[in-house]
Amino acid sequence: MEQVRIFDTTLRDGEQSPGCSMNLREKIEVAKCLEKMHVDIIEAGFAIASPGDFESVKTIAETIKGCTIVSLARSTPKDIDTAWEAVKNAADPRIHVFIATSPLHMEYKLKKTPEEVLEQAGEMVAYAKKYCSNIEFSAEDATRSDPEFLKKVVERAIASGATTINIPDTVGYTTPEEMRELIADIKGNVRGAEKVIFSVHCHNDLGMATANALAGVLGGARQVECTVNGLGERAGNTSLEEIVMAIKTRQDLAELTTGIDTTQIHRASKTVYNIIGQTAPLNKPIVGKNAFAHESGIHQHGVLANKKTYEIMTPESVGIHANNMVLGKHSGRHAVGQRLEELGFTLTKEELDRCFDDFKSVCDKKKNITDADLEAIVNHNTNLLFEEETSGYKLDWFQMATSNFTTATCTVSLEKDGEKIEDVALGDGPIDAAYNAIDAIIKPSEHSFDIFNIHSISEGKDTLGDVTVKVNAYDRTFTGRGLSTDIMEASINAYLKALNRMIAYEKKYKGK
Ligand code: KIV
Ligand code: ZN
Repeated sequence: MEQVRIFDTTLRDGEQSPGCSMNLREKIEVAKCLEKMHVDIIEAGFAIASPGDFESVKTIAETIKGCTIVSLARSTPKDIDTAWEAVKNAADPRIHVFIATSPLHMEYKLKKTPEEVLEQAGEMVAYAKKYCSNIEFSAEDATRSDPEFLKKVVERAIASGATTINIPDTVGYTTPEEMRELIADIKGNVRGAEKVIFSVHCHNDLGMATANALAGVLGGARQVECTVNGLGERAGNTSLEEIVMAIKTRQDLAELTTGIDTTQIHRASKTVYNIIGQTAPLNKPIVGKNAFAHESGIHQHGVLANKKTYEIMTPESVGIHANNMVLGKHSGRHAVGQRLEELGFTLTKEELDRCFDDFKSVCDKKKNITDADLEAIVNHNTNLLFEEETSGYKLDWFQMATSNFTTATCTVSLEKDGEKIEDVALGDGPIDAAYNAIDAIIKPSEHSFDIFNIHSISEGKDTLGDVTVKVNAYDRTFTGRGLSTDIMEASINAYLKALNRMIAYEKKYKGK
C-alpha cells in the first residue's frame, strides 16, 4: 500500500479564518492532538504574520518532535528568513514557499508578469533551500492558472530544490474530474516529477474540497493538505477526518493508506471545536452528532440485522464508543477514572482530582452523567484551564432579578487574592446586567465583545450549558469558557476567564 501524507494546516489556514484564532497554549494543545493522531506534517503558522505567530511556530517546532513542522512564507527573502528562524529547531523542519500563478493574481495582486513570477519562484525556492533540505512550493490559485505556465513554474521550483509541490485550489473552484486530470498532467509532463511528492490543497467554496482532494490523490498526489473539522478561509479546507476516512473506507479505489490513528479523530475534533467555542453541525460527516445515528425504523431494522446495511464505517473506528456504564452520584473516583480512560483521556492525578470534584458537583444537579458531560468536564479542566484563568477573579456569588417587563438587575460578588468585592448593575437582560456588574468591579481595559456562544452538552432540561466568550483587545482574542447546569453561572465564569486572560496578558506584555 502506498502512503498518502497528511499535512494538517488547522494552525495556519484554519486559524487565520474569522472566529478561529487561538492563543499559544491552545495551539500547542491542538499540535499535541495532531501528533497523537500521527499527522505527518503540521503547518504551525505563518511566522512573519505577527510576533505572536512567530512565537507559536517556534514553540511548536521546539515541542512537537513526532511530526514535520512547517512555516508558510511568501516568496521573499524576509519571509523565508523568518520562517526558517521559527522552524529551525524542529526535529524535521520544512519551509513552505508560495507565489500566485493565475493571471488574475499575477496582474492584480502581485502586479508582475508571468516571466517575473517564474523567476521569483525559482530564486526563492533556491534561497530557502540554502537553509533547509525540505522545501514545499505552492502555486497559489493553481486551478485557475494556465496549465502550461503552471507546469513551467512547477518545473522551475523542482529544479531549484523543492521537494514537495503543492497544487492549491485556492478559491474552491475546481471539480474532481479537473483536479485528477491536472495532477496527472503535471506529474506526467514536468521534468523532475519523479523526485518530488505532489500535494493538493482544496478549499470548500462549492462544497467539493474533500472530493477534489480525493480526486487529486487518485491522479497521483501523495500529500493532502487539510484541517480538523474543515476549518479554513471562507468555507474552509478539506477536512482531515473526511479525507482520511474516505481513503480508509474506499481502499477498493486504490491501494492507499494514511498513517493516521483514526481512533483519535473524535477527540481531535472535540478539542478544536472546544477551543474555538463552536460545536459540529449535527449532520457533519464523521464528527457530527448524527453522523452515526440511525433514527428511521427502516434504517434501525437494517442495522440490527447487519450493521453494514447503513454503516460504511464504524463509530469505534473514529474513536466514538458506546456508553455501557451509567455514571451518577454513587459512582466513585475509580469508576470515573476508568470511564475516562476508556474514552481515551490520559489524565494526571491532579487533573483527575479536579475532574472528579466537578463531576460530583454536576451530580448534585443532574441525575445521569453521559460521556458528553464527562468530556465537557475534562475539557474544562485540562485543555483550557490555564494559570491566568484560575489565579484572577473568581465568582463568589451572584443574584439576579429579571422579568419581561422590567430592566434586569444583577449583583455580583467576586473574589481575588482573598478579598471580596461586590457591585450591582442594570442591563438589557440578565447576562448584560451580570457583565455590567463584573465590569463595574474589575474595570477592564477597553475591549470589544466578539463571541458569546452557548450550547447544551447533552439532552434534557438539566443538561450542562457550555458557554464560550471571546473578547478582543490589543489585536488579540481572549477566550473564556464556563460549564454549569446553570447557564447564568456558566456565562459569568466564561466572561471572568476571558477577562482574567486579558489582565494576565496586560501584566506580562503591557506593564499594567
Ligand atoms: O489556499 C491557498 O492557496 C493557500 C496557499 C498559501 C497554500 O493556503
Ligand atoms: Zn488555503
